[in-house]
Amino acid sequence: MHAEAEKEQDRPRTVGAGVGRRALLAGGAVLAAGVGAGVTALVRGGDGGGGGDGGGGGGRAAAAVPPEPDVPFHGPRQAGVTAPQQPATQLLAFDLAPAATSDGRAALRGLLGEVTRVLAEAAGGGSADPRLRGGEPARLSSLVGVGPGLASRLGLSVPAPVLAELPAFPGDRLDPARGGGDLLVQLCAADRWPLSVVAEQLGAAAAAAGASARWTQSGFLPRTPAGTTPRNLFGFKDGTANPDEEAARQWVWGPPGPHEHGTALVYRRIRMDTAAFAALPADRREQAMGRREGDGAPLTGTAEHDEPDVYAKNHDGSYVIPATAHVRLSSPRLDGGARMLRRGYSYDDGPADRGLLFCAFMRDPAQFTRVQNRLAARDALNAFLEHTASAVAYVLPGAPEGGVLGEGLFG
Ligand code: HEM
Repeated sequence: MHAEAEKEQDRPRTVGAGVGRRALLAGGAVLAAGVGAGVTALVRGGDGGGGGDGGGGGGRAAAAVPPEPDVPFHGPRQAGVTAPQQPATQLLAFDLAPAATSDGRAALRGLLGEVTRVLAEAAGGGSADPRLRGGEPARLSSLVGVGPGLASRLGLSVPAPVLAELPAFPGDRLDPARGGGDLLVQLCAADRWPLSVVAEQLGAAAAAAGASARWTQSGFLPRTPAGTTPRNLFGFKDGTANPDEEAARQWVWGPPGPHEHGTALVYRRIRMDTAAFAALPADRREQAMGRREGDGAPLTGTAEHDEPDVYAKNHDGSYVIPATAHVRLSSPRLDGGARMLRRGYSYDDGPADRGLLFCAFMRDPAQFTRVQNRLAARDALNAFLEHTASAVAYVLPGAPEGGVLGEGLFG
């Protein structure tokens, strides 16, 4: 444990401390603010789309609200990590054909060129595909990453920590056909339409490069007013305690150098027993989470963005945020101050298979392992959860105008 980081986190706070600053950071918007992420639209916050339901617009005619512009594709960091979360997502994983290392590198290079072209055209509204023309801006953003297996096989230049696969965790019921993969793409947009079209185009590019589709998974979020936190299928606000730009530079993005604008994605498909959780009395649900259902405030605070105080005690000596509460066990205070950037989505694959697509970005996936080991051991949510798929990828730095994703992999 880094004592300094912990001390900083533990300083007493007045009620509502930091609310203004942290509230501004909701939806990942802050991550665009620093280091020239080059996506000016990000400061608009995390709205799900048309911007027409943003609250406070009372009575304004819908036609008077200009549609939100597209999200630029090019920039130092990929917009699929930095842009405000959109309401629809699709993840796609491909496997490259096993080949000699030199052929494999050439095939990957060619494929990344095609993938860059497809994604840049779709994001910029320049696609020749009639299905992507003439509508409202799709606000398509994307990220592309390479799996640890491919990076090792082809000797790619990726940070050492992302070469390791995640260990097995107690309670895992992972389906290998729904996880892993050599190349991982996440598409996000204002609605499902462009996701299907772009997924098809990416599939064609992959097939032409001798790669095969491994798995795909779609997800969604409720539309929420700009800058507010969407809820998950347990009904709780999810994504509140995300890092600001300064913390993200330390914990999410790579160290200064070639990987500075890269990060690692940890993906977990987690089935949730929503009916059983909903059947608990409201106070038990809040004790399990460590936050209040209505406003998302920690049990030790009064507002959503108050820092949870995991050391506060009741008169009887018990913790206000219980020992098995999710936000205690995942607290950065138990982890030297380390924070991951969580951008989860819900999924619905039928009545017996709904849940969370946990998507989190961090410099070193070992951070996920530490937190998940604590959660797997005693999280009060465990009785309602089952991890059914898992993937890790090194998320490439962004491509400059005229450049191709992944140019640094072959150095
Ligand atoms: C279906 C499973 C899960 C659900 C429903 C869930 C839900 C939540 C909710 C409602 C919060 C509080 C609000 C917020 O800060 O966003 C939270 C916080 C958090 N969760 Fe989860 N979570 C799940 C799985 C995980 C997993 C697998 C991890 C990592 C191993 C994780 C890590 C975290 C972290 C780091 C926080 C922030 C803690 C803090 O800084 O206060 N969660 N989660």
